[in-house]
Amino acid sequence: MSRPKISVVGAGSVGVACATELARREVGEIVLVDVSPDLPAGRALDLSQSGPIGGFHVPVTGTDDYEATAGSRVVVITAGTPRRPGMSREDLFSVNSRTIRAVTERAAGASPESVLILVTNPLDVMTCLAWKVSGFPKKRVMGQAGVLDSARLRGFIAEACGVSPLDVAAVTLGGHGDTMLPLTRYATVGGLPLETFLSEEQIRAVVDRTRAGGAEIVNLLKNGSAAIAPGLAAARMAESVARNSRRVMPCSVLLEGEYGCRGVFMGVPAVLGSGGVERIVEVALSPEETAAFRASAEAVRRGIEKLEPQGDGNGT
Ligand code: 2OP
Repeated sequence: MSRPKISVVGAGSVGVACATELARREVGEIVLVDVSPDLPAGRALDLSQSGPIGGFHVPVTGTDDYEATAGSRVVVITAGTPRRPGMSREDLFSVNSRTIRAVTERAAGASPESVLILVTNPLDVMTCLAWKVSGFPKKRVMGQAGVLDSARLRGFIAEACGVSPLDVAAVTLGGHGDTMLPLTRYATVGGLPLETFLSEEQIRAVVDRTRAGGAEIVNLLKNGSAAIAPGLAAARMAESVARNSRRVMPCSVLLEGEYGCRGVFMGVPAVLGSGGVERIVEVALSPEETAAFRASAEAVRRGIEKLEPQGDGNGT
């Protein structure tokens, strides 16, 4: 059986974490791309050589040549600069939009039938940019953030309850920024409502820590941002597409009326399969949650509006 090709653009920490998870789960042949050849080639060799130890075997190539990515089923784009302490994700707009524009043109040109998964910040805006530059249908362009933000929410809930995070189900919606919406009203612990375990004040603290989860890591690292969890999250999304698993994951997708929003990429639950975003799932929100979701959409829209003067093409 032929293996799907999955390309990972950016051989930094996030790209390596993503490629490692894809290799360990033998999702497909992996091509790791970066601007110069030696870094991705070295990372690819290192990853290949971990196979006999980890008990997996898939071809892994590292290169600066997008020809090697041709015919990819999925392209995960992690290229770009992470933020430093004191910066918001939006502060990366100028530097990362240049990168995303360039790598998307090349990756989409080499793999015109692929599904693109963006990881670069500011996430929702960069996902929109990749959609515009690629000209791909909206269902083949998505951003990774909700899987990461939801994992943080699950982890912080578990810590507060003193239980395993594996028994916590919870989802975070909205933009990948300070306005994100950790949806604790629907969260469960071992199948029971969260209120069984935590007070309102404890839930508020968990929500605040989730919203600041990325900055907490940036402040500790000083010269980088989270990499392992974002990389794994993107790999699991790529796997659901490559294997047509139809996992339900919160992803940044183009909304065209769903959740009362239009023309904006936002984190919402989606079914991921071979076509990319197979379906957007709408969940009933309370008036307060709806107001928070709309405020988050407006924050993302302000970023997207900055893309327009640069004459991006459009495609749905
Ligand atoms: C985070 O939230 C890097 O945006 C990413 O950690």
